[in-house]
Amino acid sequence: MENTTRTRLEIIPLTKYIGAEIRGVDLREKPDAATLRAIYQAWLDHLVVVFRGQELSQEDLVRATSYFGELGDIDRPEKHHPKGFARMLPGIMLISNIRENGEPIGALPDGEMMFHHDMIHREVPSRATMLYSVEIPSSGGDTLFASGYAAYDTLDPQIRSRLEGKRAFHHYNYGSTQKGDGRGTEAFSEASHPVFRTHDETGRKAVYVNRLMTVRVEGMEEHESDRLLQAVFDHAEKPEFVYTHVWRTGDVLLWDNRCSSHARTDFPSTERRLLMRTTLKGSLRPQ
Ligand code: SIN
Repeated sequence: MENTTRTRLEIIPLTKYIGAEIRGVDLREKPDAATLRAIYQAWLDHLVVVFRGQELSQEDLVRATSYFGELGDIDRPEKHHPKGFARMLPGIMLISNIRENGEPIGALPDGEMMFHHDMIHREVPSRATMLYSVEIPSSGGDTLFASGYAAYDTLDPQIRSRLEGKRAFHHYNYGSTQKGDGRGTEAFSEASHPVFRTHDETGRKAVYVNRLMTVRVEGMEEHESDRLLQAVFDHAEKPEFVYTHVWRTGDVLLWDNRCSSHARTDFPSTERRLLMRTTLKGSLRPQ
């Protein structure tokens, strides 16, 4: 236990580099200022915080998101919204494999998903993502979180110096879960950002490229860019830098997209999975 406040807040680290469970908080009620500061600091320190056993309405989820910053928009054109989005409050994205008339009602419906940083393909990516689980399959569909700080700090110095100061180009087809799977909707946004991002609040550097969305290092031969990116991805996804979240219904996770990436494991297509996702608006272009 690292910390205790008036509401008997408990912060329990989950791995050496990433993830902490926060106990003693019912997100339906706004925590007092001291508790909120402690949660925020835990989030900066641990990159992903987990609140178990929450019972949130859509209104509660939107309010809980706003404790930590400004609610982000659903950043995809309305014509590409799955049917279930219309049942959500503005700012809530439905993630689900449940089908009606053969069509998934939510985004990112099926199976395994490669590591990525949410909205890295935008000029100003989301600062954070909150995800609340409503229906969970009996196995699989775990979400893996990798610390970009740990990956940066331990990266082979030769690879690091080759990439220091460089920018990478990112592209994403909405809905695709594996690079080049030919699924999803053609991207309407692409962006380039530093390969190593300096966190605007902690000042620490983190790996800021990922297997799903990063296409190439700018100003570099394709062959060398591919070789270096592959080495960085393999390093950044090492199990020692990763927290694996095994979902239960009622979990709320808040993760920092500036310094962590995440992925999803496969799960049975015969079982239902439904989560509600919100984001916090970013205010800065990555530096
Ligand atoms: C996401 O990448 O935002 C979705 C993660 C998940 O479905 O577990």
